[in-house]
Amino acid sequence: MVQGFSREPGTHGPLTAVPPAGLRKIQWWAAAIAVGGFLFGFDTGVVSGALLYVRDDFHLNSFEQGSVVSVLLIGSVIGALGAGRLADRWGRRRLLGVVGAVFLVGTAIAVFSTGYAVLLVARIVLGLAVGTASALVPVYLSEISPTSIRGRLLTLNQLMITIGILVAYLVNMAFSSGGRWREMFACGAVPALVLVAAALWFLPESPQWQIARGQIEQARAAIAKVTGPDTADQVVELARQRIAEDKAKQAAAGDGGQGLRAPDVRPALVVGLTLAAVQQFGGINTIIYYAPTIIEQTGLNASNSIFYSVAIGVINLLMTLVAIRLVDRVGRRPLVLISLGAMAVSVFLLGLAFVAHLASGLTLLFMVVYIAAFAGGLGPVFWTLIGEIFPPAVRAAGSSASTAVNWVSNFVVSLAFLPLANSLGQGQTFWIFAAICAGAFVFVRRYLPETRGRDSEQIQDDLAHRFGHDTEAPVPAERP
Ligand code: BGC
Repeated sequence: MVQGFSREPGTHGPLTAVPPAGLRKIQWWAAAIAVGGFLFGFDTGVVSGALLYVRDDFHLNSFEQGSVVSVLLIGSVIGALGAGRLADRWGRRRLLGVVGAVFLVGTAIAVFSTGYAVLLVARIVLGLAVGTASALVPVYLSEISPTSIRGRLLTLNQLMITIGILVAYLVNMAFSSGGRWREMFACGAVPALVLVAAALWFLPESPQWQIARGQIEQARAAIAKVTGPDTADQVVELARQRIAEDKAKQAAAGDGGQGLRAPDVRPALVVGLTLAAVQQFGGINTIIYYAPTIIEQTGLNASNSIFYSVAIGVINLLMTLVAIRLVDRVGRRPLVLISLGAMAVSVFLLGLAFVAHLASGLTLLFMVVYIAAFAGGLGPVFWTLIGEIFPPAVRAAGSSASTAVNWVSNFVVSLAFLPLANSLGQGQTFWIFAAICAGAFVFVRRYLPETRGRDSEQIQDDLAHRFGHDTEAPVPAERP
C-alpha cells in the first residue's frame, strides 16, 4: 500500500508480502477509487447525445452549443490544478468524497437547469469534479498498490474512463426517444453517490499520506488489514526511512520547499508534462468527439451516428482490457512505443485516405486501428505513469500539473480541429497528428524510464540517468 512496499530497498526479489485475500481487498478499493475515472468518461460522453435535444429546447446557436461542451474542459483544468494541494492538505480519501459531492451538485444543476446560462454553470461545476478526480485517482491508486500489480490497478482508471464513455453513449441511446436529455444527465448521479459512499464508509486513507503526516499508527493499522501485523511493521519502517531520506536529500541539495521546481524533480516533470500534451496532441479526441462527422465525410451514411459511437466505444474498451493484461508483464515502455508507432502509421494512412480519396472502407479501417493503438498503450499507460514517475513528496503536485496540461491540450485540440480541417484539409490535419506521434516516439525512446516492478527510488535514478544528471548508483536492472 505504499509504492514499492513489498520489497527491500535495492533488491529485485519476488513480491511475497501481500496474501491473496489482501490483494482482493486492494482490488475492491481500487475499483471504488476508479469510479472517479468513470465520472470523467461519462461526462465527456453524455453531452454529445444530450446536446441534440438541449439545442432545440433552449434554442442554442452553434457557438452556444460548442460552449456547453467546452466549458467542462475549462472547469477540468481548474479542478486538476487545485487537486494536488487539496489532496495533500485534506488527504486522498476526503478529497474523493468531496469530488463525489461536487459532482452531485453539478448533476442536479444540469438536470433542473432552466436555460443556457444555468446549464453552463452546471458544466463548469461538473468540470471541476472531473478535473479533480482525474488528477487525484492515479495518485490514490498508486499509493494503495503493491508494486506487483501497480500497473494493472493504475490502468483501471482508463478502463473506467472508457466504460464511462460507453455507458454515456448507451444512456444517450436509451433516452433519445422523446429527447429526454435531463434523464441523460441524471444518470450521472449514480457514480457520484458511489464515490461519496465509498469515501465515507469503505475506503482507507492512503497510508503513504498518513505516514508523511506523522499518522504512523493509523497507517500501520490500514496496512495490517491487507498484509498482517508483522509485514505492516516492516512496511511502515521502510516508508518512514524513505521519507526521512527524501527530506535529508532535499535539505542537502538546498531545495527544500521548492516542490516541483526542485532540480531533482525536473526530469519527472519534463516526462509527465510532455506525455500529457502528447496524449492529446496525438489527436485521439478528434476521433472520440467527431467520429460521426468524419465518417459522414467519407461518404458513408452517418445517420446512425450513435451506432458508430458505440462501436468506437467498444473497441476503445476492449483494447484497454488488452493493455491491462500486458502492462505488468511486458512493461510500460514497450506498450507506449508500440502504441505511438502504430498511431503514427494509422493516422498518417487515415490522412492519405482523405487526400487520395481512398475507399471509405479503408478510411474506417485506419480509424479503428488508430483507436485500438491508442487504447492498447498511450491511453491507459499515460495515467499509469503519472501515478508512478514523481517522487512521493511531489506525487500529488506532479499529477496535478500533468493532468492540467492534459486538459488544456484537450481544449486546444478540440477547438482547433474543425477550423484546421477547414483551412488545411482533413487529411493534412491528420498528418500533423502523425508527425506529433512520430516525434513522441523518439522522445519516449530516449527519456521514458521503465517503471514496471521498480520502486520510486529506482525510477528516479533511471530518470536522472536518462537526462544525464549525476547519479552515484548504476541504473537498476528491471525485474525479469
Ligand atoms: C484521455 C481522454 C480520452 C480518453 C478516450 C483518455 O486517456 O485522456 O482525453 O477521451 O482517453 O478513451
